Amino acid sequence: MKHEPLVLGLETSCDETGVGIVRGITLLADAVASSVDEHARFGGVVPEVASRAHLQAMLPTIDRACQEAGIELRDLDAIAVTAGPGLAGALLVGVAAAKALSLSLGIPLYGVNHLGAHVSVDVLEHGPLPEPTMALLVSGGHSNLLLVPDVTHDIRSLGSTIDDAAGEAFDKVARVLGLPFPGGPHIDRVAKGGNRKAITFPRGLTAGKDMERHEFDYSFSGLKTSVARWVQAKEAAGEAVPVADVAASFQEAVVDVLTRKAVKACQANGVDHLLLGGGVAANSRLRALAQSRCDSASITMRVPRPALCTDNGAMVAALGSLMVAGGREPSALNLPAASSQPVELVQV
Ligand code: KG4
Ligand code: ZN
Repeated sequence: MKHEPLVLGLETSCDETGVGIVRGITLLADAVASSVDEHARFGGVVPEVASRAHLQAMLPTIDRACQEAGIELRDLDAIAVTAGPGLAGALLVGVAAAKALSLSLGIPLYGVNHLGAHVSVDVLEHGPLPEPTMALLVSGGHSNLLLVPDVTHDIRSLGSTIDDAAGEAFDKVARVLGLPFPGGPHIDRVAKGGNRKAITFPRGLTAGKDMERHEFDYSFSGLKTSVARWVQAKEAAGEAVPVADVAASFQEAVVDVLTRKAVKACQANGVDHLLLGGGVAANSRLRALAQSRCDSASITMRVPRPALCTDNGAMVAALGSLMVAGGREPSALNLPAASSQPVELVQV
């Protein structure tokens, strides 16, 4: 019997240089080098800085992944790389490295969609995806509700954010509260000591005409402004800002809307599995509320461990491996770095 494909995946769409190696749907290595500390003082990812960091980290991270997996590059059966969406210059580094590996090793190359990779990664932890699966992807760059009949070639967008991504809202509110970048994990931590019912912040696109027009879309920009105004008003009055209560109440507003719409999307489409992914899926309150709402609606929730929720190479290797197993054609060697690749385009 032919062995299961050994696939290396490269991820460079934002500030993580990720190199993952899988055999079939077994994870062998997940090496990540992050440039997040270099961006912290700017309060956001600086594209040029990220691209340079990818260049410096690429070869050492590939070496580290091969060592961790106990393999040589010549053992590989295929290469997968994030072609988009993401920062153009950052993507280019990964795509160029993947082409070089594919050409020099004489093995097929799969240029894949970053969001499809976020969905795929859970096969490494919880086995094959039920078809269809509903996926809620929430990170610093995206907030999407996806109906996924087949992750290798059929991903449908039901809704997305019309302004800020969920993680972006966490990062901006953290800044208002004087917490470090990236703010999501800090808000998560601080919120544990606060009262999530202390302040009622707005739930975007959940009522009236907005809801009708944007049933499965999200909006976090109004919420962010509302938190900033609330904090400013306290400061102007010379009162102490109850940071833990603000963090908990803000976080509750975000995860309430995320989970409410995700469960509704499952029910509206007759889907009984909800997958969470992306950096914000590491949020403890999101995981808890999603779990309890899924339980009440008889929906099975799946969520990978936090290290596989944030950007990594294993997720790209996972999608590449599913493509090989599904008999998908490889990409052309002149594939582009597709910075605004639409979510429905799983492969370029
Ligand atoms: O998926 P990811 O690593 O990179 C992007 O593709 O953006 O997500 C990073 C985002 C950041 O906005 C970060 O603040 C957020 O995920 N994040 C969290 C938590 N951990 C990371 N947000 C809320 N709670 C967390 N525990
Ligand atoms: Zn991501």
